[in-house]
Amino acid sequence: MQIGFIGAGNMSTAIIKGLIDSRFTSPEQVTLTKSTAERSKAQADQLGVAFSSNNTELVQQADIIILGVKPQKLPDVLNEIASEIKDSKKIVVSIAAGFNITKIQSFLGDEAKIVRVMPNMNIAIRRSVSGLSFSDNFSVEEKQLVSELFEQLGVTYELAEKDFVTFTAIAGCSPAFTAMYIDGLTRAAVKNGLPYELAQAITLEAVSGTLELMKDKTLSSWDLINQVSSPGGTTIEGVASLENDGFIPSLFHAVDATIKKDQEMSKE
Ligand SMILES: NC(=O)c1ccc[n+]([C@@H]2O[C@H](COP(=O)([O-])OP(=O)(O)OC[C@H]3O[C@@H](n4cnc5c(N)ncnc54)[C@H](OP(=O)(O)O)[C@@H]3O)[C@@H](O)[C@H]2O)c1
Repeated sequence: MQIGFIGAGNMSTAIIKGLIDSRFTSPEQVTLTKSTAERSKAQADQLGVAFSSNNTELVQQADIIILGVKPQKLPDVLNEIASEIKDSKKIVVSIAAGFNITKIQSFLGDEAKIVRVMPNMNIAIRRSVSGLSFSDNFSVEEKQLVSELFEQLGVTYELAEKDFVTFTAIAGCSPAFTAMYIDGLTRAAVKNGLPYELAQAITLEAVSGTLELMKDKTLSSWDLINQVSSPGGTTIEGVASLENDGFIPSLFHAVDATIKKDQEMSKE
């Protein structure tokens, strides 16, 4: 099985490294392209994989094509490869935000086998949570193959496409939202006298330990909040302050804004 990557930036590079590290794929099974042949060669040499001088040639040689270009570049790429995809059994994986299956099929034909995948940046350490949504012409075996591929890179969830935007908001965007939370705690500690590096190291340990505890003990958020909020104590003062300042409504707004933007991009 040959896997072709159109676009080899942050995401595709992390996927390629993860697939090779997990031995799901050998370097000989991977081909990539970037915006120019020179850049493709340089990146391929660095990763120890093959490159194609153009996207059409790459598609001809691949069984699975992973589209790793930015959403703005996707229409041009889809137009470029459409004739190679039509009437073929090739599987096209899109990781682009704002492009639903119908929109991709409008370029590649209604019969094209499209799987939309939303990984997150944690894929770089094979800890992604990836949402998968398939067009309705996939066989069980084909679905299994794509699922197994992304399981090498973390956890996967198959979703109805209507739920994809919500998944994107809480999983695709989660690294950024979480980093903002960590940054807020870190800089609040700096304001109170701790050096930045020390404050960030402490915050990271506290946050990752909390996540482990919640998973290990299968605690809900409110189970944990109740456990650490002693009556009349310090934690409940902070919790009440966050409530007063609209911490939870801000997260609702952020998720809603992300969903709205994704829906707008799908309509363009
Ligand atoms: N980053 C995230 O956290 C994240 C999460 C989920 C999904 N995604 C999605 O993943 C996709 C890629 O994001 P990214 O962060 O990896 O972007 P990126 O680092 O900017 O990589 C984009 C790649 O596309 C290449 N490219 C541009 N035009 C091309 C063309 N005509 N033919 C072939 N390759 C071309 C670029 O090559 P050059 O370097 O030569 O310009 C670059 O290698 C996006 O659709 C994004 O929405 C990203």
